[in-house]
Parts: sequence; structure tokens; C-alpha cells
Amino acid sequence: MQNILEVQDLVKHYRQVCAVDGISFSLAEGMCFGLLGPNGAGKTTTIEIMEGILKPDRGQILYRGRPIDSEFKKRAGIQFQNTSLPDHLTVSETIRLFQSFYPEPRPFNEIVEICSLSDILSRDNKKLSGGQRQRLLLAIAIVPQPDLVFLDEPTTGLDPQARRNFWDLIRRIQTEGATIVLTTHYMDEAHMLCDQIGIMDHGKMLEIDAPQAMLDRHFEGVLVRIPFDEPKRIDFPLPEGTVVRNDAIELTSTRLDETVRRLITLGLSLDGLSVHKPTLEDLFIKLTGNTLRA
Ligand SMILES: Nc1ncnc2c1ncn2[C@@H]1O[C@H](COP(=O)(O)OP(=O)(O)O)[C@@H](O)[C@H]1O
Ligand SMILES: [Mg+2]
Repeated sequence: MQNILEVQDLVKHYRQVCAVDGISFSLAEGMCFGLLGPNGAGKTTTIEIMEGILKPDRGQILYRGRPIDSEFKKRAGIQFQNTSLPDHLTVSETIRLFQSFYPEPRPFNEIVEICSLSDILSRDNKKLSGGQRQRLLLAIAIVPQPDLVFLDEPTTGLDPQARRNFWDLIRRIQTEGATIVLTTHYMDEAHMLCDQIGIMDHGKMLEIDAPQAMLDRHFEGVLVRIPFDEPKRIDFPLPEGTVVRNDAIELTSTRLDETVRRLITLGLSLDGLSVHKPTLEDLFIKLTGNTLRA
């Protein structure tokens, strides 16, 4: 299958800050791609360059093999991180306003149905909840019947139920054939929604792959964690591969019974021991030493 988008060697500086530091990847048509990383990682800068809104200092974006042009802008639906909605308009008026900007907008009823807006059509934009607002912003993004949809942190600040509803919406749009590019700092969201993710930190792309493939490559077995007040003061040898953190020790295990027996033999107190399947959060910590929320 042809790649719908090629991202080639992007670099972007803001004065001394290198916001994006030489990143390249490609997107297959129809996939959901997630840029994952903590605040300041360079996600917004990257996605805005991909949208054609920001000019990179170096590198380029190819849309279906050609540099992005006005045709691309007609085919892209964009939901910005901090969009202000027009004041004194209802949801329905807002959709109609954005429809008037395009020669062949998606039909009104279809937009309303896809984004579940029928109950709030006459509500003033200013009176929307966080989840309703995000649904309206997504509705605006799909007005031009885009084959590429860009969403910058679409679920930040939403409560868990609103986030789940929004995930359903994104899947629905993907099912209809659109390629989705989103940014998030929620690792569970990236894992649930995305066919491929790119993990970013300090402007660099650390890893690109399908979420589970990425985890399988980095972790074998389960993660065992034992909290400690001062783990650095442990003065006997720990099993190979044990990572000593500020407040705990961590190790992976493919044979949990053996690992636990071993830890008991060492005389360690197993109070508070927890076991879980490695997540993207664990992977991010492994790659950078930091948490995604930091
Ligand atoms: N307009 C700007 N002027 C100066 N610095 C900026 C600007 N936009 C972003 N930056 C800096 O670039 C880096 C990446 O920012 P951004 O792309 O917004 O990251 P993210 O979306 O992952 O939080 C940060 O250090 C940020 O402070
Ligand atoms: Mg951002």
C-alpha cells in the first residue's frame, strides 16, 4: 500500500530550543498513528509541520509522494490543541459556518450523527462540557471530508468516560477510511487507539512501532516492583537486570515463582510487591529514566 504521508528529516528550532530534532517516518493509508511523549517533547511542533501550518527549518512532508500543497490542505482535517470556538453561536450554527468554508462539505446530518451532537445542537458553544467541546472540534475537523485527520491532544482534560466516547468516535472516523494522526501523553490511549506510535522526547523520535510489538521487543515477562524507602542502601547483590529506582527496585521475570523465591532467599521483605504486564509508561521510563507525566 502507498504511504499517504512521508515525514522526512524534520528540524525546527525556536531560538535556542530545538523543538524537533531530525525526525523521519511514514504513514500507511488508513492507519491511526500516535505521537506519544511528555509535555515539551515536540509533538505539537511536529504535527503542525505535518499539517502544513508550520514551516520546518529543514526537511519536508510528502503527501501521496508530493510536497504538500493547497490540494493537501483541502484533504486534511485539523483539530488544534487550543482552538477557540466562535462566540455567540450554537453547535448547529458552528457546523453550518464551517460547512460554508468548503465547496463540498460533508452533509450536516452525517456530521451530527458521527460526532453524536444531536442532543446539543441548540446549545451555545460557551456552555459545552469538555467532552462536548472536543466532539464539536472533531466535527469541524471532518467537515471537509478529509482523508487525513490531525488531532492534537484531543482528550487532554476529559474525564475517563468522555475519553472512551471520544476513542469510539476516532475509531469510527478511521473505519470510514480516514488516516488519523494524533498526539497524546496518555499511554493507555496510545495503546488502545493507535496502530503505530512514535515515542518522542526532547524533539527526538525514540521508537516507532506498533504498541505491542514495541513492548515485546523491550520486555520479556512481567514487571515485578518492590517499594523501598532507601533502595540505594541495599548492600547485597540483587538478581541480574534489577533496576534500582529512588523508591523501589524493579525487575522483569518470565518465571514469577522462581523470581519470588529468589527474592525471599535474599532476605528481602516483599511487602508492597506488585506485578504487572509492562505498559508504554514502563517503556518510556526504561528509555528515558523519566515518567510521561513528569
Ligand atoms: N512558539 C514557540 N516559541 C518558543 N518555543 C516554543 C514554541 N512552541 C514550542 N516551543 C518549545 O518547543 C518545545 C516543544 O514544544 P511542543 O512542540 O509544543 O511540545 P509538546 O506538544 O510535545 O508539548 C518546548 O520546549 C516548547 O517550549
Ligand atoms: Mg502539544
